[in-house]
Parts: sequence; structure tokens; C-alpha cells
Amino acid sequence: PPSLTRRQLWKAGGALGLASTLPGRAHAASATSVPAFLRLTAAPGRASIVGNDHPTTDVWSYGGSVPGPVFRVRQGARFRATVENRLDENTTVHWHGIRLPNAMDGVPGLTQPAIRPGESFAYEFTPPDAGTFWYHPHDNSLVQMGRGLAGALIVEEREPPRVDRELVWVIQDWRLTRDAQVARGFGSRMEVAMAGRLGNTVTVNGRVPDALSVRAGERVRLRIINAATARIVALRFEGHRPVVVAFDGQPCEPHEPVGGRLLLGPAMRADIILDMAGVPGRRYAVIDDFYGRLAYELAALAYDGSAPLRDHPLNAPVRLPPNPLPKPDLAAAERHELVLQGGMMGGMGMMGMRGAAWAINGTSMTGKGDTHMPPLLTLARGRTCVLSLRNETAWWHPMHLHGHSFRVLTRNGTAVAGAEWGDTVLVEPRQTVEVAFVADNPGNWMLHCHVMDHEVSGLMGVLRVA
Ligand code: C2O
Ligand code: CU
Ligand code: CU
Repeated sequence: PPSLTRRQLWKAGGALGLASTLPGRAHAASATSVPAFLRLTAAPGRASIVGNDHPTTDVWSYGGSVPGPVFRVRQGARFRATVENRLDENTTVHWHGIRLPNAMDGVPGLTQPAIRPGESFAYEFTPPDAGTFWYHPHDNSLVQMGRGLAGALIVEEREPPRVDRELVWVIQDWRLTRDAQVARGFGSRMEVAMAGRLGNTVTVNGRVPDALSVRAGERVRLRIINAATARIVALRFEGHRPVVVAFDGQPCEPHEPVGGRLLLGPAMRADIILDMAGVPGRRYAVIDDFYGRLAYELAALAYDGSAPLRDHPLNAPVRLPPNPLPKPDLAAAERHELVLQGGMMGGMGMMGMRGAAWAINGTSMTGKGDTHMPPLLTLARGRTCVLSLRNETAWWHPMHLHGHSFRVLTRNGTAVAGAEWGDTVLVEPRQTVEVAFVADNPGNWMLHCHVMDHEVSGLMGVLRVA
């Protein structure tokens, strides 16, 4: 059981705050740490994931670390990165959630040729939206991300809200052997058709976390990125009342998480404001209890003994400035249904899927994507599209669309409160979720489940905007 293993390995240093400060200081929110031309190397490396008194883990890393460096760029400023492939297989980098030109989207065979070993590729774009985004490979993603390739891409608001500190938590999930090596056996037939490859070691910023040291009275903006390949998390902050101010980088109506649990499927992000209202000297757990009895402590807030930072707790609400998202015109929308099918206990079994485990509307795109398959949908450029994602399966699917952000309209026919935007929406088993977006970004865009096992075994397709 994962929780047991994690507890045994529970010795890593208190790297929570520290690691989040790479490469610049996390709270230096006003200074951009992205040089005009940036090099990012994907290469094998070693990392101390479970602590210094344990063997190091052979990983695949960006810039020598897992996760890769935190990139910060100012909203509307040019971002340039040359990615160099020093792995011994093809790769690409996808800038997840950024509304960028199609040619910069990092999907091999669809938007660019794969970057072969020894080669490089120059990415360049101007992020229109501020927010919490991330980057990861889009070639052999199940393995490449499972070995560590992922990193945070923060686009800073022109006028960021005032907080005392800003932190980034990149959550990754590893399946490690006893000697702390990444276990083989990616893509096992069984896992692929179920919840995907769940690991036994969850890290925050590349380490099994100990505790984040905090001071009473401070206000922290915490950007949480679920970079796991399959694990869904549901976070409870013991003794605290986090306020969600953005999902997937897009500002929302500030609110406390529904039911007190912050639910994030793979690829999903949340920005939360945490007012440290606890007692000096005390320690509060951050629990992930998505898988019920396999609940474990993801992290902890350890209050130092010092007097509160301020006499009166802050109560000015934090509201992020809006991003320039095109507003869906629901009355003039074209409507499409995409039915998610397959998996174990899926009702339709595996028939007609030619070895794939999953399908969308009866077709299965597998592997790194098959560009010979016709697009699932061709959308008229500039028009609003309402997509109904109907999950016929017995499994959860974080469905992700490239190149656009959508508004989540309804779940099982019930309107979603507040302005909830995103690029990835978690669809429960047997649930139907409606999302709307303006198809304003021309090109061929991936739509897929972000459980990597599901993606590569059929839960993937292309939407063409023309
Ligand atoms: Cu973050 Cu197509 O993926
Ligand atoms: Cu993406
Ligand atoms: Cu899925």
C-alpha cells in the first residue's frame, strides 16, 4: 500500500519551501527570472527523492532537476526556450495550458517533428494569460513523465495581488523499487484499463516532503500543480481555510473548496490563498484522501514560534485580475458530444477498439497520436463550441484540450457556480460535463485524458480549428 511505503521513506529534508525557489526566489514576484534566451536540456540524471540517507534515483530531468526549473515570465512578454534533447529517445515540450500558436504546442507529428536525440528545437511564444501553467514532454509521455520530466511555468500578472510569500508545489507520483529506482513496467495492460499507473511515493518539488515552515499571520499564495501521470489528489488543509482564486491558471470567483477538499486530477492546477491562522509552534497536516483508506500526509505546515506577523489577520479578499479570454456566445454555439468509452467494467468491453483500452466516439487514437486519423471534430474558427463530455466508463478522466481555455458550464445538467475556467476538467465516472470555448486558435489541437495510461491507449483525439 502506497501510504506505508511513503511513511517508511518519510525522511527527506524540509525542502518544501527551498525547492520551490528554483531558479529565482519564489516570492520575488516582481522580477522575472526568465532570461531572454533560455536553454532547457532534457537528459538522464540522478535525484535525491526520498532523502539524503537513501540511494539516489535515476531520473530523466529538465536542467538537471526534478521537477525542472520554475520558469517565470511576465504576462504579455515574449518567452523563448531552446530545448535540447540529451535523452536517447525522441521528445518534445508541451507548454500545458498556454494559449499559443499551434506550431509551438509541442505535439510530435502534429505540430512539429519530434526532437531527436542530440537535436534541439526553439520554442517561442507570448503567453496572453497570467497564471499557473506547466511544461512536460508530449512524446512517450507515460514513461518520460513517469521518470520525472515536468516543470512549472508561471506567468505573472502585471500587478500581482499582495501576499507575503508565494510558493509553487509541483506534485509528482513515483513508483519506486526498494532501492529507490523507478520501477519498470509502464503501460501494463491491467493498469492502462483501470486508474493508470499509481505510484508509491508522492513528492512535492521533487522530494518526499517534511514540513513547510510558516509564520503565524502571514498570507501565502500557493500554486499547486498536479504533475502526476495518474494520481488524483483531494487536499485538506487541517486547521486552515484555503481560498481558491484560480483553476488551471484562470481566475475564478474566490471560494473555499467544495466540501473542504481541493480536488485536482492530473495536469490540473489551483492557486490558493492561505492565511496562516494557526497557533505558533503547532504543526498542521495537509492530507490527500482521494483514495479513501490510502489517505496520507502530503505535506505539513509547521508554525515557527515567533509572534504573529500582524495583529489583525488580513481580510481583504484576493481577487485576481481577469485574463483576456474570449467570451463564449452560448446562443450561437455549435454543440458536439464526445463519449468517453472503454476501460475495465466499462460495459462495452474492448470490442471494436483493436487492442486499445479506451475510445472517444468509437475511435481510439493511441501512442503518441496518429496523424493519419481524421480529427474528431472540425470547428469553425471564431465560433463558440459547447462540448458535452459524456463519461460512459467506470473511471475518472481529467480531460484536457490544447490551445484553448474553456468554461465549465454544467455537471450532469446542473450549472456550475462561479466562473470556473480551465484547460483540464475532471469528469467523474458516468458523469457528463459541458464546457464552452471560442474556437479562436487555428490549428490541430489535441484533446485527451491526462491520465497518461489512458491517453496512450485510446483516450485521445484531435480537434481541428479551421
Ligand atoms: Cu499536458 Cu496534451 O498535455
Ligand atoms: Cu496541454
Ligand atoms: Cu482517463
